[in-house]
Amino acid sequence: MELLDGKKVSKSVKDALKLETARLRSLQLRAPHLAAILIGHDGASETYVASKIKNCEETGFLSSLIRLPVEVSEKEVLDTIGQLNKRDDIDGILVQLPLPVHVSEQQVINSIDPAKDVDGFHPVSTGKMVQGMPTFIPATPYGIMLMLEYYGIPTIGKHAVVIGRSNIVGRPISILLSQQGTYANCTVTLCHSRTTNLKEICSGADIIVAALGKPGFLTADMVKENAVVIDVGITRVADDSKKSGFALKGDVDFIRVAPKCSYITPVPGGVGLMTIAALLKNTFNAYLLRTQGDTN
Ligand code: GUN
Repeated sequence: MELLDGKKVSKSVKDALKLETARLRSLQLRAPHLAAILIGHDGASETYVASKIKNCEETGFLSSLIRLPVEVSEKEVLDTIGQLNKRDDIDGILVQLPLPVHVSEQQVINSIDPAKDVDGFHPVSTGKMVQGMPTFIPATPYGIMLMLEYYGIPTIGKHAVVIGRSNIVGRPISILLSQQGTYANCTVTLCHSRTTNLKEICSGADIIVAALGKPGFLTADMVKENAVVIDVGITRVADDSKKSGFALKGDVDFIRVAPKCSYITPVPGGVGLMTIAALLKNTFNAYLLRTQGDTN
């Protein structure tokens, strides 16, 4: 069993971006600039956004954090995005999800300029992705694809089972794995809460992506020998032994599943770190496309 080390892979992605950014700066060009909008004070969202901003700084990117109160109106959110859309010095815009119930996620996503949609959630980005056109790929699926590539994991003709059909992870990774490509070309089964014979389906899988947000859901009896297991879960579970009062738990019963696997991602230290690296890559590409018209 080999661990898919998100720390190592994300560092290699970030080091390359850091080098490229330093090169831009040496040519007196400005650095890529990410704007993040955070509404309210949800603990997990605070942590994710802080990490995104910190990683921008470490890579030499510019970043702006726009905080809005939880009672902000939808119109104010849309106006804020409208202003960021117009600003020439901003390359990427992300609005951290989830949103307060009175703010429509779809309206917010649709209002972001597709050229700055570094989360890859806009229907224009989704449509292009489905058609295999170059576009912004949502950060978590993109991070998973980068990880498969880094470790040279064989995927062609393999049966990949994705558990969870969210727009952020499950659905896009199912599309990416089924597309043509050296680290794709899988036969994909997309499972969800209404799937009846999940255990049977998982037991036949060469690759399993668990992205349903239920700690320890994927147990050893659902996994065949030498499977590749990608754990996207990152749920906060109360743990008095931790200073924070919680531990991060993946969707996989890691202790029992890991010995059966050829490769598996740990939580933490796996997919989560790749998500940020992929977001930085998207931001860098947005910068290139906006300032130079290409991504080479
Ligand atoms: N909430 C959970 N994952 C994400 C993500 O990838 N992007 C944004 N904007 N919000 C999230």
